Amino acid sequence: MSEGILLAKVARGTLLPEADRVARLREALPQIEAVVKGETDDVALQATLACLLWETLPQTNWCGFYRRVGDRMLAVGPYQGSLGCLRIPFERGVCGACARTGRTQLVPDVHAFPGHIACDDATRSELVIPVTSGERLVAVLDLDCPHPDGFSAAEARILEALLARCFNPVADC
Ligand code: SME
Repeated sequence: MSEGILLAKVARGTLLPEADRVARLREALPQIEAVVKGETDDVALQATLACLLWETLPQTNWCGFYRRVGDRMLAVGPYQGSLGCLRIPFERGVCGACARTGRTQLVPDVHAFPGHIACDDATRSELVIPVTSGERLVAVLDLDCPHPDGFSAAEARILEALLARCFNPVADC
């Protein structure tokens, strides 16, 4: 029986200073990895990471996964937050740009991102990270924030490394 992770309580929607966010993420990492260690089922991993990253990143108003369900199509997967769009073609939005390019999209102001899909009007910034298993894109992790500049490059690098460890069976996660 898991009791989640132990972190200081921070109210949903709070944007902590960048250094505090990175420290909180680093504090959460070993706890998250301990929870998912040995799990190889994609849905179990995505659901558990969506839950634990939601706790870890209080600045998020949406935290979850879009899964690759076709050559150039994403469908919503496990998430926390307000209602998300169900399907996103590779040609659309920040998630589509991530899926199309295979590269992390760090968007400090979604209003300045051509084609951003506003599932929730409150969202002002976004971070989308590709999830690959071997060479293949299997999903993207989508994080939304109601504040501009809600995510940093340092947070993106830490989350990229976490996802790489969790979704690759050869890695130790
Ligand atoms: N904003 C995303 C769509 C997904 S929702 O925000 C949950 C995008 O532009 O791809």
